[in-house]
Amino acid sequence: MTEKKTAKMKILISDPLAKQGVDFIKQQGEFDVEVNAKLSPQELLKVIPDYDALIVRSETKVTAEVIEAAMKLKVVGRAGVGLDNIDVGAATKRGVVVLNAPGGNTISTAEHTVSMMLALARNIPQACASMRSRKWERKQFTGAEVYGKTLGIVGLGRIGSEVARRAHALGMKLLGYDPILSPDRARSLNVEPVDVETLIRNSDFITFHVPLNEHTRNLISHQQFAMMKPDVRLINCARGGVINEEALYQALKERKVAGAALDVFEKEPPIDSPLLELDSVIATPHLGASTEEAQVNVACEVADQVVRALRGEPVAYAVNVPPIDPKVYMELKPYLELAEKLGRFQAQYPQGSVREVVVEVFGDIEQLDVRPIRTAVIKGFLESFLHQNVNYVNASLLMAERKIAVTERKGQMLRDYANLITVRALTDKEECSVAGTLFSRTTPRIVRLNEFYLDACPEGVVLICLNEDKPGIIGNLGTLMAQNGINIGAMTLGRTRRGGEAATILNLDSQLTTGIMDDIKQINYINDARVVKL
Ligand code: NAD
Ligand code: MLT
Repeated sequence: MTEKKTAKMKILISDPLAKQGVDFIKQQGEFDVEVNAKLSPQELLKVIPDYDALIVRSETKVTAEVIEAAMKLKVVGRAGVGLDNIDVGAATKRGVVVLNAPGGNTISTAEHTVSMMLALARNIPQACASMRSRKWERKQFTGAEVYGKTLGIVGLGRIGSEVARRAHALGMKLLGYDPILSPDRARSLNVEPVDVETLIRNSDFITFHVPLNEHTRNLISHQQFAMMKPDVRLINCARGGVINEEALYQALKERKVAGAALDVFEKEPPIDSPLLELDSVIATPHLGASTEEAQVNVACEVADQVVRALRGEPVAYAVNVPPIDPKVYMELKPYLELAEKLGRFQAQYPQGSVREVVVEVFGDIEQLDVRPIRTAVIKGFLESFLHQNVNYVNASLLMAERKIAVTERKGQMLRDYANLITVRALTDKEECSVAGTLFSRTTPRIVRLNEFYLDACPEGVVLICLNEDKPGIIGNLGTLMAQNGINIGAMTLGRTRRGGEAATILNLDSQLTTGIMDDIKQINYINDARVVKL
């Protein structure tokens, strides 16, 4: 007998990635890996529908169009920090995980920044070029010391902080601006925290370490150049666009600025940029992260995370999924499965259109981060309605788009259960509450449906009848199922009191037709019958 082989998931690496990262993925044996760093945007659009994951650096532009075309895409991995070449919004909407490798190139980029600052202060590239043309021009390349000068650092995240440490060691005075810089952190970095205008007005050197976004684009333009000290020098190893290039050109031409060291440009490569014609500009072709060490670090970091994401495991640097500690995830996993089932139940059981969902978590799971449980409920709920991929990335967004409110709360310890997840759905017709628990932290059970206490298995086709507590119901239901060739896998009963209202729940091995459902509703003392698939 030949074993049926499942197709391997496919990963496309569309920018140069260190061999160690590629080898890591290959060694897993579960994926087909294609490295092709020469694809044009049109070629990428053509091939992307085949791939489950895409790994890029900064060259590949992962546009909304690419994401739209990528029918199977589950994850985009960025070997590096900046995400400005990826349309994260479009990816989130489609449920595609976007992750990056933020730590691996911090030191290299900080070192590059300091190198650029010193090279700029001492005219090293210009002097080197002059030497190459066999000149000996000592006077022309007189530079400036950095010792005792003021360095303004805009953005004190990973790279900005490492630059601060190195600049402090060079004897520079440090001013820093970052909206989330705490006084303690500033003190520990020997940085004086100031507002951006004070920094601009008082620095001899200014370096930028911010992401490019709507707040930081053109952060430095004509108005800011007008405030700067004469002979100020600028270093940008963050992103082109943070300094307006046209304004920079003018400031350099008018000698309001003594020099600029640029590793990044508004358009890369900046072939037509007039900045490159100026002697006061030194430039490198986006080399901040281009060291052996950084490239191996980011390649291994992104490869490891993409593999984890494709396996459905949590990843540390996903930018559009809440981060979750892998240990917490292992503890939460069975609860997430239960929560999805409860969400799926509420999508099918109540009548009317759902206006609000309330998720309540009780017992020992309260100690964990319960936000993923809320997402799991939403995922289960929406999957029943939508014909699109609903996952932990896009579930909350899709629910918000549908204007269905979801609230979550933690409760007090219940005497009867070590853990309990209750999901209440409020529709325009009724309110329905279903609760589930994990026995021995592994086995899911539905233990409450509205006023009934139960012990039902949330699996497969589940028939839920509400009936009067009278003899004969089970017999009649059994006969009807037998007549229709439907096997009953399990049965649970619950009642409010002897002879009162009761719930009869059957796990069935096959789906029920509308005709059979009509027959069930005809059985004496059955007041309501509904079916859900879990
Ligand atoms: P990070 O997220 O650790 O730090 C960014 C910091 O900028 C944060 O502390 C944030 O609060 C701050 N910030 C955001 N908006 C700000 C604003 N308007 N004003 C002041 N501060 C602001 O990022 P990082 O790893 O330090 O990277 C910094 C930049 O360097 C990014 O743009 C990244 O893409 C770029 N980068 C470039 C290279 C290269 O090769 N040249 C390599 C790595 C990173
Ligand atoms: C980054 O954002 O990590 C850098 O720009 C380096 C790179 O693009 O590889």
